[in-house]
Amino acid sequence: MKLEVVGIEVMYKGIILVIKGISLQVNEGKIVALLGANGAGKTTTLKAISGMISTEEGRVTSGFISMDGRHTENQNPEEIAKLGVIQVLEGRRVFEHLTVEQNLMAGAHMRREGIKTDLDTVYNMFPPLKKVASRSCGYCSGGEQQMVAVGRALMARPKILLMDEASLGLAPMTVIEIYEAVKRINKELGVSVLLVEQNAFTALEVAEYGYVMENGRIVLDGTSEKLKNNRDVKHFYLGLTEVGKQRSFRDVKHYKRRKRWLG
Ligand SMILES: Nc1ncnc2c1ncn2[C@@H]1O[C@H](COP(=O)(O)OP(=O)(O)OP(=O)(O)O)[C@@H](O)[C@H]1O
Ligand SMILES: [Mg+2]
Repeated sequence: MKLEVVGIEVMYKGIILVIKGISLQVNEGKIVALLGANGAGKTTTLKAISGMISTEEGRVTSGFISMDGRHTENQNPEEIAKLGVIQVLEGRRVFEHLTVEQNLMAGAHMRREGIKTDLDTVYNMFPPLKKVASRSCGYCSGGEQQMVAVGRALMARPKILLMDEASLGLAPMTVIEIYEAVKRINKELGVSVLLVEQNAFTALEVAEYGYVMENGRIVLDGTSEKLKNNRDVKHFYLGLTEVGKQRSFRDVKHYKRRKRWLG
């Protein structure tokens, strides 16, 4: 599915202008990253695309969003989901009292047929989930819960996945495992992906194109190669020092937490 966002503004509660005219594109079968610091407007952009801003009194007040040429801005989230636009929310919101498999099946609530095949597809993408299929999600590790969150989105048969900060708070090995699965979902199932990440290094390894947001605007875009070599991106988002030494993953997470406190 091809997603086009053209010059959109997004306002909350009719007065708070958060997105100030951004355009971006995810071509059929591509993985694209959306980067930016805390509060830049990344989550709002994803929710504008999935229609979920409406649940927070948000609206696209200018510009348009189209899926394969069909306008979707300000439609309700169920209608947009039916077109195959599925968002994986930040913070892996699983149903803790339901089992892993029940959580996955919740992603397929809009239909009855093909559930078994789709569950097999999810277990094939995330082998660790097969072993814990009947475990309560509340007892699963953070990594397993994130796999469930992505797996549940897969059960909805997405044409494009919108992923919000899937790596947050997870161990580096788990992050690799999850993004390897995202690459396979893209390649083998042909699902387009728009991913939001604080961890720009991971994002630019997975995506082939990226946009950088700041304060409700896109300030930079280009191929992942180009962005990785951009001085500002290196400095602010990749955590590289002047001599090119990479800061540890823990530092990057710590930085985010600190910024949240200050913000
Ligand atoms: N429901 C809401 N009502 C009013 N303002 C909101 C709402 N949600 C977000 N905002 C504001 O919109 C701006 C962008 O927030 P958003 O969550 O989209 O940023 P983000 O880039 O995802 O940040 P983070 O990295 O912290 O997740 C912030 O200033 C935030 O306070
Ligand atoms: Mg966010």
